[in-house]
Amino acid sequence: MNVVLFGPPGAGKGTQAKELAKHYQIPHISTGDILRANVRDGTELGKEAKGYMDKGELVPDEVLIGIIKNRLAESDCKPGYLLDGYPRTTPQADALSAILEEIGMPLEVVLNIDVADEELVTRLCGRYVCTCGESYHMKFNPPEKENVCDACGAELYQRDDDKEDVIRQRLDSYKEKTQPLINYYKEKGLLVDINGTGAIDRVFSDISNTLDQYK
Ligand code: AP5
Ligand code: MG
Ligand code: ZN
Repeated sequence: MNVVLFGPPGAGKGTQAKELAKHYQIPHISTGDILRANVRDGTELGKEAKGYMDKGELVPDEVLIGIIKNRLAESDCKPGYLLDGYPRTTPQADALSAILEEIGMPLEVVLNIDVADEELVTRLCGRYVCTCGESYHMKFNPPEKENVCDACGAELYQRDDDKEDVIRQRLDSYKEKTQPLINYYKEKGLLVDINGTGAIDRVFSDISNTLDQYK
């Protein structure tokens, strides 16, 4: 199953992808998570990316294209992939088509998770995350024990880019550079709209009902 999870910051891509990856046994590939791991490890890539991420701007295309090409070449992608946060620009989408053609794993569906702007800001301001990739929300999706990850027991923290001014900039970058891909994939007949508002498990059922058609 070859899937892109598409949507603005805070739409629930990571939240849904975690569950979908378990359910369908395909890897969750989040370019945001890959970049944050590099920032944490202090790699050259992380040093370059951090400046952009802290401002809520996109990291340059050539960097992301390299990351995704290497990641898709790994053996766990044989049964398929669930991309989260990539592509975000037209050059990234064009590069993805070329990579996927080369490895013979064409994209089957792009799920466009739709949530209103004000709700996105509320979600991101209240988000707490774990280095293991889990994310929570103080109100909408709290961990069992305050500030502790249910999955791994580590302490939760807020992402550096979940500050209101950076959130606004991320939403602007999304509108300017990423949103045009909705038409790009609509024209290719790959886009399916998902209503991302409402309970997390309700959104999950909508998505899995759609994805079951591609099994
Ligand atoms: P990235 O990590 O991808 O961030 P993002 O796109 O801004 O998306 P988020 O991770 O913030 O949102 P999400 O949709 O995953 O929401 P979540 O499930 O956590 O990218 C970060 C940065 O890296 C970028 O700004 C850029 O600099 C760089 N980057 C990454 N990829 C790049 C690329 N391809 N090109 C260039 N630069 C790139 O949910 C959010 C909150 O809402 C959580 O608290 C969650 O618990 C809660 N929630 C989820 N679902 C619901 C629900 N149904 N109801 C109520 N609350 C909910
Ligand atoms: Mg995410
Ligand atoms: Zn954890």
